[in-house]
Order: sequence, then structure tokens, then C-alpha cells
Amino acid sequence: MRTINIGLVGLGTVGGGVARLIMNHHDDYVKNYGIDLHLKKCCSLYQSDADRLGLSADQFTTDWHDVVSDPDIDIVIELIGGTHPAMDIFEESFKSGKHVVSANKALLGRNTEHLARLAAENGVSFRCEAAAAGGIPVVHALEHELNGNEILTIAGIMNGTTNYILSRMKHEGSDFAEVLADAQALGYAEADPSADVDGFDAASKIAILGSMGFRTRITTDDVYMQGIRDISAADIEVAEELGCTIKLLAIARKTDTGVDVRVHPTMIPNGHPLASVDGAMNAVYVVGDAVGETMFYGAGAGSFPTASAVVGDVFALAEPISQGQKPLPEAEPFSVNRPIRTIDN
Ligand code: HSE
Repeated sequence: MRTINIGLVGLGTVGGGVARLIMNHHDDYVKNYGIDLHLKKCCSLYQSDADRLGLSADQFTTDWHDVVSDPDIDIVIELIGGTHPAMDIFEESFKSGKHVVSANKALLGRNTEHLARLAAENGVSFRCEAAAAGGIPVVHALEHELNGNEILTIAGIMNGTTNYILSRMKHEGSDFAEVLADAQALGYAEADPSADVDGFDAASKIAILGSMGFRTRITTDDVYMQGIRDISAADIEVAEELGCTIKLLAIARKTDTGVDVRVHPTMIPNGHPLASVDGAMNAVYVVGDAVGETMFYGAGAGSFPTASAVVGDVFALAEPISQGQKPLPEAEPFSVNRPIRTIDN
């Protein structure tokens, strides 16, 4: 049995969930997969995180450099979000021969080409299942299981906050501002809701999924974006009269000239499976030329659902490492070897 040493940077909602999941299921992982996942070093700015998770003094640091410079660590999990110092953590990890797993959609939505190149130069891989639609295993499906297809459409509800707001507006007949204020008071929406309600969060996610599905390099800046601030109770009522539900959709679609990528409120006929996705849930509808219609549904956020995707990525790397093989660069998201398609917006 091979021990895979993990460095975990960030012990917030998702990082704490990852630490707990690995600790809670450690023995099952050994029994079922023959892999000993060891949390060698965990980093947070707060000692209280270490206390809450029961980490030993040896296992804990407040300086991420201690994680990426540890020669025993095989895989670094970056869960601090944002660009800095997350970019430095990626770059330093690659340069010291470590694979990286991340849920950082903001970073990956813009910098995948640079990161893929740097990973390839250093003979390591990175994975980002949790960066798009949280616990839903759709990145891996686009990367592997659907490879036999030409992907025609990816359309999803990829932001739980806006789906929660639109669902409540529909059920209660309330206006956007009223539901947003309530969602903020209940902790469903951030104090600064812009990333969610203006579409940036969904744009980062469709940039990642579109890049996977269409074998191209879409960045967040390529995505046409319109949020839900201007949707009124009257709009939702009119949609209902027409037998439709308004959802914030993130869409990447094959066209005659390339790939069209957009995020905007969309009227969906009530018979479509995306129309019935209610509350804070996510769903991703994928159409391939061979498989036809598929839909992936689940929690797009939250501690354990997102941790589920992160730990899945850890195993995708740990299995070849434990057999003395390198995870194949071809299998990595955004591989530099992939042909590039035009993006047309
Ligand atoms: N703010 C995001 C959402 C969280 O509402 O879906 C997960 O990216």
C-alpha cells in the first residue's frame, strides 16, 4: 500500500469538509482502494481551524510555503479561492513537482492555459472537478465518459444563489430586491452578491466546462454575461403564463463557426428538465451527438458536496501515483496538446 501525502491549503467551508472527509473515510479508502491518504500538512491563517478539526501541531501551519516546500507531499489541494496567493501556490507546487487539485473557479476560469503549460513543463497535473457545479461530477464526464461524442450543447444552472432567488420569486411572487435581502439575512447570499447575481460565478464555470467539452480555451472574459438584477416579479408571471420558468443559464453551444458561450436569464419551457431544478441546486444539461440528452443534477456548493469532488480528483491522481505512474498529461483538463476551436460571441 502506498501512502499519498496531501498538503491542504485552506480550511474554510470546503477545506474543512475535505479534511473531515479524508479523516472520516480514511480506513474505507485503505480497504477499498489500497490507498492511504495522509493529511501531511494543512494550512490556514487561523489556529481555531486546526483546533476545530483536531489537527496536530505537526500537521498545521499558517504559512502555505511550508506546504509546497515539503518534499514528501505528492498532491497540494488549493482551497483558498481568489487569485493571490492561489496563483503562487499553483506555480510553486508545479515547480516543486507536486500535482494540484483546486476548486478555484475564479483562477481557473481565466488562467488555465498558463497553468496547463506550466504543469506540462514540470511533468505534473492539475484537476478541478469542484470548480464547476461543485459536487456534480460533470468535468470528469466531459473529460472522459463523453469523449466518444461531439458535444453539441452544455447548458446549466451553475449558480445556486441565483437559482434560490429565482425559485423564491416564482413561488412567492416577490421582487428581486426583497428576496435578495432575505437570502442575505438567511446566509444564502453573500453580503456583496455581485459575483453571483451579475453572472460572474456562472461565467467562470461555463468557461471551464466549455473548455472541457469543446476542446477549446474559453476564459471568463470570452463569456457574454447578463445577471438577474433586472428580472421582476412581472417577468416571472409572464413567463409562467407562457408555460415557462426563468432560470439563469450558462450555455456553451456549438455553432457553424465555433462555440457560442453566454450567461443570461432564459425562459425555459416547463417540460424541459432544467425548468424543474428548484432552490439552491445545480444541474448541467449536456447534449452529445451519440448519447443525445443527458442531465447531471446535484449540490453545486457546500462543504461535503464540494469536498466529494475534490477527493474524487485526489484519487484520480493518487491511483496512478500509487502504481508508480505519472498521471497522464493528456488526461488533464485544458491539456496544452488539445486542438483549439474558435470561440464566437
Ligand atoms: N456562490 C456559488 C453559488 C457557490 O451560489 O453557486 C459555489 O460556487
